[in-house]
Amino acid sequence: MEKKELIYEGKAKKVYSTENGNYLIVSYKDDATAFNGLKKGTISGKGVINNKMSNIMMKKLEAEGIPTHFVEELSDRDTLVKKVSIVPLEVIIRNISAGSFAKRYGVPEGIVFAEPTIEFSYKNDGLGDPLINEYHAKALSLATEDEIETIKKYSFRINKLLKNIWSSCGVTLVDFKLEFGRLPSGEIVLADEISPDTERLWDSETGEKLDKDRFRRDLGNVEEAYAEVMKRLSENS
Ligand code: TMP
Repeated sequence: MEKKELIYEGKAKKVYSTENGNYLIVSYKDDATAFNGLKKGTISGKGVINNKMSNIMMKKLEAEGIPTHFVEELSDRDTLVKKVSIVPLEVIIRNISAGSFAKRYGVPEGIVFAEPTIEFSYKNDGLGDPLINEYHAKALSLATEDEIETIKKYSFRINKLLKNIWSSCGVTLVDFKLEFGRLPSGEIVLADEISPDTERLWDSETGEKLDKDRFRRDLGNVEEAYAEVMKRLSENS
């Protein structure tokens, strides 16, 4: 299938229509932003890595019974996906304290939780993606109770699966963000991407950060970190 018309350009991806109204093509860019677009940059080769990595993960999750939007990888940067209407909730699962959790609660990074946590942000750039609870999400009709239950169930299962995949690569899955969509049938499927842009990945031995925090925090060796986790995943799948 081929790209017809650019219908949306996000911070890290472009989305094109196709001749089939049920499918879209996502095209991964090397552009990187942080802090709601305040910090801008380029991570050379990121688009290729995120496309490949996300597709590997989506395939693995599908094989374990998680429905996803993934259809087919078309090229280095382009993937055919099912068209969904995105549920405007960013779902964040955390296994270890880091990032906004550590900041909000005034705790160090690296506290290993006995149980994973879940939180939601209202996906709204104008508002800076504010934290939202389930009652507020329902009050604003962002999702139904059933949809939220399905999203939570899938997200915790995805956490177990991703943790295992990364652990066999010598990588600790600290936290990650997921987005879900609705198919025309109403079925909830995993959408967006799973990549070092959307996961915190620490080397299991050294604790070295191997994800977008290297860009967010100006830690250097950004491209190298993306390449390293991609290499480890390829060698282990
Ligand atoms: P946080 O600690 O900044 O809230 O981030 C939690 C996780 O969500 C982390 O793995 C990075 C990911 N994330 C995104 O994918 N997109 C975003 O816009 C933000 C803020 C975080």
